[in-house]
Amino acid sequence: MRGRFSADGSSANFGGLNLTSVDFRMIDRFVFTSCGTGWHACLVAEHLIERFARIPVEVDYASEFRYRNAPLDRDALFFVISQSGETIDTLAALREAKRKGYKCMAICNVVGSTIARESDGGIYQHAGPEVGVASTKAFTSQLMISAMFALYVARMRDMSFADGVEYVSGLKVVPKLVERILQQAPHIREIAIRYAKYNDFLFLGRLSLFPIALEGALKLKEISYIHAEGYPAAEMKHGPIALVSPECPSVFFVPSGDLFNKVVSSMQEIKARNGLIIAIAPESCDLPTGLADEVIRIPDCHEAVVPILATVPVQLLSYYIAVARGCDVDKPRNLAKSVTVE
Ligand code: BG6
Repeated sequence: MRGRFSADGSSANFGGLNLTSVDFRMIDRFVFTSCGTGWHACLVAEHLIERFARIPVEVDYASEFRYRNAPLDRDALFFVISQSGETIDTLAALREAKRKGYKCMAICNVVGSTIARESDGGIYQHAGPEVGVASTKAFTSQLMISAMFALYVARMRDMSFADGVEYVSGLKVVPKLVERILQQAPHIREIAIRYAKYNDFLFLGRLSLFPIALEGALKLKEISYIHAEGYPAAEMKHGPIALVSPECPSVFFVPSGDLFNKVVSSMQEIKARNGLIIAIAPESCDLPTGLADEVIRIPDCHEAVVPILATVPVQLLSYYIAVARGCDVDKPRNLAKSVTVE
C-alpha cells in the first residue's frame, strides 16, 4: 500500500501501469490469468472488480489459456499474476495475448523478472522475497493489490468520492486487523493439533470467500499432503456432501450480511451428518450455539478486504497441521517455488 493512495484519499495510485484514465475508459473487459495460488488471487480480483467497478472479468488458468485460443473482446486488458515472474505457463499466456495484440499488465513480486520485463506495465507487490515453496505473503499482497486495483478502476467509473474514502480507510486498517488475527495463533495451533489426524478436509465459502476456500484447501494439500477440496458452500449438496463423515472435517468461511443464513443452513446440513466444523467467522456474527466445533474469529472490516483477513487463519491452520504431522513446511515434497519448464 505504501505511497499508493491518491492525494485526495479517495482512490489508489499506480505508477507502473503506463495507461491513462482515458485508456481505462476504453476498456470494457479484463482477462486475468495465472497458476497455482496466483489463480486464486485472480478469482478474488474478478469478484472485486465486478462488484465495485462493474466491469466484466474473465479468469483462466494460464496453462489452459495458452492453448485454448479463446475468442477475446477487442477492448480487453490482459493481466497476469506471478510471484516469481518466471512461471513458464504464465509467461506463455502473456506472450500469446501479446501476439494477439493485447496490452498485458503483470502483478509481480520479483523485480526485473521475465514476466515483469515482457509486460506492457504492471504493479509490483513489494512483499519482499518469498522463500517457502507454498505461497503465503505473496498471496495476501496479491489480494491487497487486487482490492486497490478494483478501487482504482471503480473511482474512474461510478464509485463516489465518499465511498472511495471509506474504501481507502478500510484498506489502511488491514495491518492492524491482521495483527489481531495473528494473536490467535495459539488458539489456531490447538485446533490444528486436534485435527492433524484427519486425512480429508472440505473448505467451503461463498462469493469472494470461495477462492479463499480453494486456497485453504491448496495450502493444506501443499504442505501437509492431506486431501482437501474447496467448494462454493451451496455447491456442497450437489456432490461433495457425500464425503461428509466424522472423519472429514469442514472448514466454513462464514460471511456477514445477506448470505449468513444460507451458510448457516449449509453448516446444519454437515452437522446433521455428524461432520466436524471449523468456522472462520466475523467477530460480530452470532453463530447458533453448538453448530461449529471450533470457531476462529476475524475482525469486522470493509467488504473488499474480507478475503485477506480470512486467508490468514487458514494459512496458520495448515502450517500448524503440517508441523504436527512432521512435514517439511518450507520444502514440501514434489513442489518447486517456480515451475520454469513445461
Ligand atoms: C508453484 C508454487 O510452483 O507455482 C506456488 O509452488 C505458486 O506457490 C505457483 O502459486 C505459481 O507461481 P508464481 O511465482 O507464478 O506465482
